Amino acid sequence: MVNKKYKVAIIGCGRLGQLYAEAYSIYPDTEIVAIAEYNSERRKAVGERFGVKALYKDAEDLLNDIIPDIAAIVTPTKFYKEAVIKCVEAGVKAISTDKPIAAKLSDADEIVSICESKGVILGGGALFRALGKNQDIARYINEGVYGEVRGAALHCWGVEISGGGSQHISLLRLFTNSEIEEVMSWGTHVDLVDLVDAGTMAIKDIAKRDHLYQMANSALNQKEDQGIIISGYLKMSSGIQTNIFGTPTPFRGVDVWTDTSLIRWDWNDPQIYQGFDKNGKRILKDEKFSENNWDNFGFGYLGGAIRSLIDSLETGAKLWISGHDLRQALEVAIATILSAKLGNVPVKLPLKDRSLSLYPRPYRWLGGDETGRYQTAEEVTKQNSKNN
Ligand SMILES: NC(=O)c1ccc[n+]([C@@H]2O[C@H](COP(=O)([O-])OP(=O)(O)OC[C@H]3O[C@@H](n4cnc5c(N)ncnc54)[C@H](O)[C@@H]3O)[C@@H](O)[C@H]2O)c1
Repeated sequence: MVNKKYKVAIIGCGRLGQLYAEAYSIYPDTEIVAIAEYNSERRKAVGERFGVKALYKDAEDLLNDIIPDIAAIVTPTKFYKEAVIKCVEAGVKAISTDKPIAAKLSDADEIVSICESKGVILGGGALFRALGKNQDIARYINEGVYGEVRGAALHCWGVEISGGGSQHISLLRLFTNSEIEEVMSWGTHVDLVDLVDAGTMAIKDIAKRDHLYQMANSALNQKEDQGIIISGYLKMSSGIQTNIFGTPTPFRGVDVWTDTSLIRWDWNDPQIYQGFDKNGKRILKDEKFSENNWDNFGFGYLGGAIRSLIDSLETGAKLWISGHDLRQALEVAIATILSAKLGNVPVKLPLKDRSLSLYPRPYRWLGGDETGRYQTAEEVTKQNSKNN
């Protein structure tokens, strides 16, 4: 029997926001009491789709009328900070953003610290770190089930290191139960970072901008944070070293090896390998995972992130994915670019210069409406019939 229903507001209800809304509207202990959506056509469509009448343009308008228990902030990244601050000031108890948490380190710091200082829970959104099976594996590693952790590697940590790359960093920190203390890296197209900035701010030096665009176009045929390829290593606080391979090896995720096992996450459920067959190939173990009551509701790692946020609100339990995790991911991405740009110089974390930034590709920073991927009201409605 569920007695309490947490009041939830979705702030930013585009493609991913609608997935959050689906999850929150299905759980028996949550109800969506309000939606803030900037685009009026989409606002009306999502209101109808989720049966929510309290519809607002943005967080400020919404919070003037309703203070939810939980606010899921799923606007483009540019608007996270303002929405988080408004929610904290209004007295919302639990907030989540998605990835990347910010472009500038100081903005990520502000988001994390305002929540910490006011005792507000800050969840980190739909990332594989919040998949129940990955949390199980992390627990088994910590309990010593696989012996000591001996090393780790990131594969294909390139293409988009501040967006998709935050998946790798947050899982690596989980599996190794440690923080990243130093990075050293080599990179190609690290100068594209300036170009990424150009996605949102005009580069004043036209010649430099043109040169960067040319470089990007010829090398990659694109202009965003999708071309930076980083290789190098990360020194972890536990003492192990993580190798970074910028391109597929052919794996694309995180490997952690221990005395007895190879633990592999490759954008799917984690896999455990133990021993070798007669041909010298690794043997896949049929690992047991804990029963997750919420599996019936689906939503994979998004479900894990949401349920863990609610658990944290109810019991004070540790979050499966937090704002701090997202901030660390951004910081590592920035540090590796810095190291590569300086000429493979070891860079210690935390970075001293908090004004450093890495702008995500424009879709993430500004959203689909501003970057040629408009979602029509009809598409919102179709989405509903697809799920029914
Ligand atoms: N975790 C993941 O795997 C994952 C996947 C996709 C997107 N994302 C992240 O989620 C965020 C949103 O992505 P999306 O695909 O839903 O984009 P989207 O463009 O489909 O949706 C964003 C929505 O926010 C609305 N909006 C913009 N500014 C607003 C404001 N100030 N107040 C209220 N609403 C506002 C827009 O009108 C739009 O409907 C981005 O930060 C992106 O990086 C994460």
